Amino acid sequence: MLQVTNLKKVFKSGDTNVTAVNDISFSVPDGQFASVIGKSGSGKSTLLSLLGALDKPTSGQIMVGKQDITKLHDHALITYRGTKIGFVFQNYNLVPNLTALENVMLPLEFAKVPKKKRQARAKELLDQVGLQDDKQQRKPGRLSGGEQQRVAIARALANKPQLILADEPTGNLDSQTGKMIFDLLHSLARTERTTIVAVTHDLSIAGKTDVTFKLRDGKLISK
Ligand SMILES: Nc1ncnc2c1ncn2[C@@H]1O[C@H](COP(=O)(O)OP(=O)(O)O)[C@@H](O)[C@H]1O
Ligand SMILES: [Mg+2]
Repeated sequence: MLQVTNLKKVFKSGDTNVTAVNDISFSVPDGQFASVIGKSGSGKSTLLSLLGALDKPTSGQIMVGKQDITKLHDHALITYRGTKIGFVFQNYNLVPNLTALENVMLPLEFAKVPKKKRQARAKELLDQVGLQDDKQQRKPGRLSGGEQQRVAIARALANKPQLILADEPTGNLDSQTGKMIFDLLHSLARTERTTIVAVTHDLSIAGKTDVTFKLRDGKLISK
């Protein structure tokens, strides 16, 4: 269960304050797929970076399972990001000079999985997201956008994270490929019992997730 309580993030620049996330509370049960919608500047990315512990909130609590991640420091924080969370970004963020397989092996290396096992698990994950054998040996530059996003999703799943965070994962894809990527995330949420929080602009996609959170000016206006 992901449980967010009275979460707030204020950015200070000079004498102006921007309240990017303004007293938000919600929860998402394990294995559910939540979408986040809202206009540009409404606080979606800030919310995701707080959930991923990439940034500290000004106040509030984020419980992931039994752990309040806003209270983690240094080493625990790095371990949390590296093993409990999977990130998926709009621009895929793959390492360009590594093959698809090697990209998926990276987080397993971080988790100190032995090399033989890393290869086997990475292959299994790429099969699971539907990337064909021959393409698993290609570098990202020789894959389509949809294929690169499949690799990024496989990489995000590598350490069986409790939570997958996706910031506009279909933002660079045509609408049909985008729908396929969302369907893939949806089925993974169920089979892996991973909670997914994904930002999207596409309302027809958001309408098919288990729950939709709508932000306006940093506030949660409906769910
Ligand atoms: N690092 C930052 N410093 C100052 N202001 C920021 C920073 N990040 C985001 N903001 C501001 O917070 C608000 C929400 O931004 P963001 O979370 O990126 O919105 P969205 O992802 O919905 O487009 C915006 O007004 C933005 O300018
Ligand atoms: Mg954003």
